[in-house]
Amino acid sequence: MKGIILAGGTGTRLLPLTATTSKQLLPVYDRQMIFYPLNTLIKAGIKDILIIVSPDHSGQFLNLLGSIFLQYGVNISFMVQKAPRGLADAFILGEDFLDNDCVAMVLGDNIFEDDFTDAIQSFHSGGRIFALEVPDPERFGVVEFDGEGRVISIEEKPKKPKSHFAIPGMYVFDNRVSSFAKSVCPSDRGEIEITDIHKVYLEKGELDVRKLSGKWFDAGTFDSLLEAGKFVQEKKLGKSFDSIVNKAIEEYNIEVKRLLKAVF
Ligand code: DAU
Repeated sequence: MKGIILAGGTGTRLLPLTATTSKQLLPVYDRQMIFYPLNTLIKAGIKDILIIVSPDHSGQFLNLLGSIFLQYGVNISFMVQKAPRGLADAFILGEDFLDNDCVAMVLGDNIFEDDFTDAIQSFHSGGRIFALEVPDPERFGVVEFDGEGRVISIEEKPKKPKSHFAIPGMYVFDNRVSSFAKSVCPSDRGEIEITDIHKVYLEKGELDVRKLSGKWFDAGTFDSLLEAGKFVQEKKLGKSFDSIVNKAIEEYNIEVKRLLKAVF
């Protein structure tokens, strides 16, 4: 199983904050947003991770994450997405990186309290996505279940959602996902939608949907960014991070201070 973090995009909903840096490098309490999806994957045992970034911010990502995980056996690669063509574009861009392995993809602005170790370690084939009840499902991909918990429909940001179950930005797929992504047509908003990939697996009867119980934030708006920061502070979420991530952050800080001392 390999990991992808999709951390490109334009971040227009967070302007002017995103005029000077990437959305996924904005602080969420005491660390940059990107560390949360990184922790989600590393905690679940994934050691080979591709981070997809926009052209304007590739240098900033490289400076922060370029070498800090290597000594812990976590290999981070980077790829530039020239234009935001949609979430499913990640599987086309990442095809060579995946090299026929399965993939867990997490969105760079998604912060999870849940642990995905079991969902990832027990995965063999097909597609596995997640669902969580929210008050504002029209902001997300939405999944509808029948009385027996079977999936009836999946829609991307419907005006009239058929349920309150949002599909958060964590997806596990087998090695067919890159070819499925290539076969999907762009939507009316011109993006290759991740929900169309879910539908391909659903039509084949190979989509597993697990319900989450913990808190989840899509930190793409001012309110959700602030709410996420407050939750992280109150719950001391950083303390429950995988020790690899916390050690890497600590060593990064020590190295920066050492270099500053050498200069001044
Ligand atoms: O947060 C969960 C939701 O994420 C899902 O419920 C939806 O089904 C899914 O479409 C997506 O909706 P968003 O509108 O929140 O996606 P957004 O455009 O904010 O992009 C999510 C992340 O992916 C964000 O970190 C930016 C990045 N991105 C996005 C696009 C479209 C890229 O790196 N490249 C892209 O082409």
